Amino acid sequence: MTDQRRADGSLRHLLTLDGLTRDEIEALLDRAQHYVRRLDEAPPRSRALAGVTVANLFGEPSTRTRMSFELAALRLGADVVNLEVQLSSRVKGESMLDTVFTLEAMHLDVLVVRESEVGVPAHVAAHLNSAVSVLSAGEAHVSHPTQGLLDALTILQHRGQCETLRVAIVGDIRHSRVARSAWHALRTLGVGELRLVGPPALLPADSEFAGCPRFTDMDEGIRGADVVMMLRIQRERFTDTTIPAGDEYFARFGLTPGRLALAAPKALVMHPQPMNRGVEIDSAVADGPQSVIRQQVSNGVAVRMAVLETLALRPREQRRN
Ligand code: CP
Repeated sequence: MTDQRRADGSLRHLLTLDGLTRDEIEALLDRAQHYVRRLDEAPPRSRALAGVTVANLFGEPSTRTRMSFELAALRLGADVVNLEVQLSSRVKGESMLDTVFTLEAMHLDVLVVRESEVGVPAHVAAHLNSAVSVLSAGEAHVSHPTQGLLDALTILQHRGQCETLRVAIVGDIRHSRVARSAWHALRTLGVGELRLVGPPALLPADSEFAGCPRFTDMDEGIRGADVVMMLRIQRERFTDTTIPAGDEYFARFGLTPGRLALAAPKALVMHPQPMNRGVEIDSAVADGPQSVIRQQVSNGVAVRMAVLETLALRPREQRRN
C-alpha cells in the first residue's frame, strides 16, 4: 500500500482512513466543523488556497463528491479544473498515468481521483514525482475517505460521541466503499457497536470488519440501533442474480417507518446517496424528521474544505517528500 504520509509523518495524500490516528481524524472533523454553515447563512469564503490548483479527475459518475470537491476548492480560493474521464483522451487509449503526468506538467497541486478500478489512487500517488497530493474521491468498493469523515461528522454533530452508539449499516456492504470508510472512521473514534445487516450475498467477506456482528434479518439488525445507515445496491459492481430485486428487496431490507420504530427512539437515518427510493428506503423515512441525509451532503463540502486545506496549505516546496 502506498504510504500516504510524508517523511515527517504528516499526511500528503488521502487514499484511505485506515491508519489515520484518532487525533488526525478529530483534527479534520474539528476543522470541518469550522466550515459548517446553516443553509440560511452565506457559505464560508477564504483565500487560504489562493495559488493552489486542484484538478478533479472522475472516472465514475458522481453528483455529491464531484460538486462538493469543486465547491470546497473554490471557497478556499483555489483554481479548479475538471476532467470528465469519459470525455477525455483516455477514450482514445491514453493511459491513466499519461493523463496524470499531463496534468502534473500543467502545475497542479492536488489531484482528486474517483476510479472504479482497485488501486488507481495509490498507483497514481506512487508515480507522481512532484509535490502533488492525491485525494481519493472513491476507489472501487475499497475506500471513500471523505465520505467516512462526513458520516462521522454528522453523527458527532447529533450525538457528541460514538462510544455509546450502536450503528447499523444496512444493505450492500460487500460492494460499498462508504461502509468500509465509515468503519475505519467510526472504529477509530471508538464506536460502541457497528452492525452489518443485509442478505448473505451482500455481506462482506468474513475477513473484513473484524468484530462487527452480522445480521441477515433486518428487524433484528436495527433493533435498538442509534444510527441506521442505509446503502444502495451497487448492481454495477456485480452480476449475482440471487440478490432479491425491487419489491422483494424492499420487503426484506427496505427502511420503512414501521421498521424504523424498532431502532432507538430518535435514531438517526443516514444514506450516502444516490438513493433508490422504494428499493432500500421509503420516502417517508428519507424525508422524515429522523433523516440527516441532506445534512450529510452539506457536511461533505465542509469536510472537503478541511481535507484540502490540511493537505495543501503548506508551501509547494515543503509539500515534497
Ligand atoms: N455519496 C457519494 O459519493 O455520492 P456521489 O456518487 O454522487 O458522489
